[in-house]
Amino acid sequence: MADAARRAFVCGHPIAHSRSPKIHGYWLKSYGIAGSYEAVDIAPDDFGPFLAGAAAGGFAGGNVTIPHKEAAFRLVEHHDPAAEEIGAVNTVWFAEGRLRGANTDAYGFAANLDQLAPGWDTRAKAALVLGAGGASRAVIYALKARGFGDIRLVNRTIERAQELAATFGPKVSAHPLAAAKELASDVNLIVNTTSLGMHGQGDLPVDVEHAPDDALVTDLVYVPLETPLLAAARRRGLKTVDGLGMLLHQATPGFERWFGKKPEVTDELRSMIVADIGGNK
Ligand code: ATR
Repeated sequence: MADAARRAFVCGHPIAHSRSPKIHGYWLKSYGIAGSYEAVDIAPDDFGPFLAGAAAGGFAGGNVTIPHKEAAFRLVEHHDPAAEEIGAVNTVWFAEGRLRGANTDAYGFAANLDQLAPGWDTRAKAALVLGAGGASRAVIYALKARGFGDIRLVNRTIERAQELAATFGPKVSAHPLAAAKELASDVNLIVNTTSLGMHGQGDLPVDVEHAPDDALVTDLVYVPLETPLLAAARRRGLKTVDGLGMLLHQATPGFERWFGKKPEVTDELRSMIVADIGGNK
């Protein structure tokens, strides 16, 4: 079995637009690994049976994306600490006959900043986080893990921000969107986790004019690569990091589990996905 080609999947509904097959396909080819990474469209009702039959189907594991991340959390037998706290699983694998799951979004978020803004987490630790959905939960988990002690969560629906903040304790506070401008005036980091700024969506009603000169601004949206928020931050002279690297880095732990090699997020990989985004906005 050791020499058999290994299979991994990404499963979602829909799945056609996933860039994960390109990312894992690049690594399989670069490292000369005889394996495959296949996109499978699975409707919600079929997800449980699909996962239950995946090992018998020859899969070493796979990625799970919208709308199955919470179902995957319920179905796996063991979670890593991040998945436990976030309540969603995006990476599964089989070990000793058991289905295991992890959430690698928080890892991907932090690893992207580690690569493109080294030292981002070493200064005083206040952050403004825009949005209170699933992505925000992963970001807050990462920020807490990196020692941020003042995490200001703003959201259009304040109740959602309050609920999320409450699950993380006193280091996370909840505020209405209208407070973002003032809250941004003394933070080290500003993160957009909402879908605003994505092509076809509205722009985020947050201005970075009053953010400190040394604040770092990052966006989870990566289509376009430079969102209106990042463009405004750049014009204001602030350091920015786009969201593509989070997508690339969150993929590395799964690849290592399934194929036994820790892959690198190289400039070549990044350029390949940037070209793909350019051609398929
Ligand atoms: P995800 O899991 O990707 O985070 P989500 O759970 O749908 O997605 O959350 C989307 C986030 O974008 C939410 O914070 C949402 O705000 P609400 O909780 O008020 O819905 C935010 N969002 C989406 N559209 C928005 C808009 N037009 N204006 C302000 N915030 C918006």
